Amino acid sequence: RAAFATAPESEAAPVHPVPVADALRWDPTRYNPQSVTVGDQTIQVRAYEGVPVVARPIEPAYQAINLYVPEVYFHGGHIGAFDACTAPIFLPIGVGGYMPAKPGTLTSRMGPPSTEAAPTASAIALSRGFIVAAPGARGRTLQAADGLWTGKAPAAIVDLKAAVRWLRYNSGPLPGNVERIVSNGTSAGGALSALLGASGNHPDYEADLQALGAAPGRDDVFAVSAYCPITNLAHADEAYEWQFEGLREYRNVAITMLDFRVQRKEIVGRLDEAQLVLSAALRADFVAYVNQLGLRAPDGTPLTLEADGQGRLRDHITALLKAAAQRALDGGEDLAGAHWLTIQNGQIQALDFDAHVRAAGRMKSLPGFDGLALETGENQLFGSSMTDNRHFTDFAFRRSMVSDAECADVRTVRSMDAMWQIADERSTVASRWRIRHGAMDRDTSFAVPTLLAAAARQRKAAVDFALPWGLPHCGDHDLDELFAWSEGAVVSG
Ligand code: DHB
Repeated sequence: RAAFATAPESEAAPVHPVPVADALRWDPTRYNPQSVTVGDQTIQVRAYEGVPVVARPIEPAYQAINLYVPEVYFHGGHIGAFDACTAPIFLPIGVGGYMPAKPGTLTSRMGPPSTEAAPTASAIALSRGFIVAAPGARGRTLQAADGLWTGKAPAAIVDLKAAVRWLRYNSGPLPGNVERIVSNGTSAGGALSALLGASGNHPDYEADLQALGAAPGRDDVFAVSAYCPITNLAHADEAYEWQFEGLREYRNVAITMLDFRVQRKEIVGRLDEAQLVLSAALRADFVAYVNQLGLRAPDGTPLTLEADGQGRLRDHITALLKAAAQRALDGGEDLAGAHWLTIQNGQIQALDFDAHVRAAGRMKSLPGFDGLALETGENQLFGSSMTDNRHFTDFAFRRSMVSDAECADVRTVRSMDAMWQIADERSTVASRWRIRHGAMDRDTSFAVPTLLAAAARQRKAAVDFALPWGLPHCGDHDLDELFAWSEGAVVSG
């Protein structure tokens, strides 16, 4: 363990600082054997757990990775079409709620709580011949003994990039094809997966990576899987009001941390008159924002909006919802309860967007993301080492209810934003994207993943995007399809 260096608790500088190169070398002997069963297949793996990915960690429990490598890859064997050289690397991001996440294990799950012990995404990945590299990441609630906050934006993405660099740095001795990394995450984790794929090698993260003693080299990934990514936080409030216009009742879920476990508590409320005025202002800002993006649907239609919120972006999302309903219907689901659909002879003829949104219901108060009382998880994400909660949009900062409120700088906000990074020419963008956002998800607007998908296409990525029918805010719900897509991508890519 000594080789992995730097005790962060110790005040004194190390007498013989461990050079970055040595501290980051993979030690092939330090594993424990594990096995994982998927169906009738049992895979023996070498588990390398808690491996530091930076030489000078601030939060060693989080700035680490768990690696799971099929035993056969150490004996010249193969799983399906893959061997030690060609095996793609599955990178599950365990972050939820922008909370800190320790490196994932083969039993950690992001998907719906399941009573029958269904295999996790990582277990399925191994059964299909992927190597699993599960990174940890710092999050918004971490605080050091000296009182400084250690997990504020952009800490999580810096840690994930460090993990990707660590994998490349050790490629060769370490089995797996580092040019075929597929990241996966849900919600905040989906946003980070998207951000990893949107911001590859962007110079804005370099100083933070170097300060931590991350490996030098590239941090781009090949493919992104993102479930309901809570991204585009600079415009999430605008997008939310555009979608939930006129809905005053909300049912929110406050995410907190208790004994290192994520807790969710429901808060029910009603927007007041002042909030309705702000809602209209945010909606107008969203129209202006969308229209200057210059994005297009796959058929070339410009994704624009009219002043009243109608327009082609809304039509495009309606078409995606209709397509989702049609797939559900074709799959034998009974959609009779969805009164906002017009169905004739097994065909979805029409979908009433407003009625669909009403049926899903509003979840967040207003503004839902940049709270005027600095009360949201996102406010806490954008704190600083000195300040727990800050604003991150001009809109909320100007209207803050907190007298000494601060606002995060634009660069920090952008460094957390897949939507911003993907449009920056300095980013290496993942070439394959799979984005899923449930048709009943109310955690962020449908516009957020829709614009992200369009922006990825604009950067010449192949994008598979859908709003699966009936699903709330959740991930890892279609693992067979996810891995069929992943395999297709890595083999053809
Ligand atoms: C998550 C959900 C949210 O509604 C949000 O604003 C941020 C994160 C989550 O589940 O990760």
